[in-house]
Amino acid sequence: MKLLRYPGGKSKLLSFLVNHLPKSKDIKGSYIEPFVGGGSVFFHVNPNRALISDLNPDLITLYKGIKLYPHKVWETFKLFPKGKAAYYSIRDNDTEGRPMYYKAARTLYLNRTCFKGMWRHNNSGNFNVGYGGEERRWAITHENLIEISTIFRKAEINNCDFEDVILGTSKNDFIFLDPPYKPGDKDLHELHYSNGKFLFDEQIRLAETLKSLPKSKHIHWAMTNSSHKDILKLYEGYKIEKIPFGTGDKLGIQTKSSNEVLITNY
Ligand SMILES: C[S@@+](CC[C@H](N)C(=O)[O-])C[C@H]1O[C@@H](n2cnc3c(N)ncnc32)[C@H](O)[C@@H]1O
Repeated sequence: MKLLRYPGGKSKLLSFLVNHLPKSKDIKGSYIEPFVGGGSVFFHVNPNRALISDLNPDLITLYKGIKLYPHKVWETFKLFPKGKAAYYSIRDNDTEGRPMYYKAARTLYLNRTCFKGMWRHNNSGNFNVGYGGEERRWAITHENLIEISTIFRKAEINNCDFEDVILGTSKNDFIFLDPPYKPGDKDLHELHYSNGKFLFDEQIRLAETLKSLPKSKHIHWAMTNSSHKDILKLYEGYKIEKIPFGTGDKLGIQTKSSNEVLITNY
């Protein structure tokens, strides 16, 4: 089940990834995902105890809203009128002071009716993606939201930087990391992610944070990243596997090589 359309979503790589990740029952501590995004891997693993986090505040309000108020989110979502004019009015209306379930329903509605599920904000922080249509809106049902809410109830959901999440881990936790990146050699040093800047300095900070985890914590981690040589250099000495298939530059196009790697410390 896919709740959101999300940039960098891993649903197309799931069949490869799941063979390299522990099963929920084998994770002795908590499942931790500091760049949870659309959450495809988290939903698939469906862990018994988890901490998921992301720097995107609207995304996290959506997840908390579904966790706490799935029925209210659904009732609000389904009553948003259809069509282009309604979309722009809902998109451009201020949500200040609105309850969490309203904000959650609005984010879900915008994600499901905006152009290609893009997630882009202008300099004032306002969502500015154009209207895309209603076809994808009803792929989500009331039952889906209840099911997702049940999965979220087993998780703590935070809106913070990856470093706080990684350093806050406990003994025997498992961390899955999917930081923002562009596959392959392109644009590694450019600003390339719609939600915040994740430049190469951030990649260095991430590698250093992971390397600083004490061995005594017995933390296993797995990360998807670009196969760019500068990334591979950061993780020399770790197990690095090429991910065989991926999506091309255009949505839905499969390529032979994904130009992505899976890096693990186990
Ligand atoms: C590639 S996406 C994750 C995609 C996700 N695995 C999925 O399947 O949908 C990367 C996420 O990292 C988040 N992010 C960017 N910078 C961050 C930071 N410093 N700390 C935590 N999350 C961050 C972005 O908001 C984005 O949701």
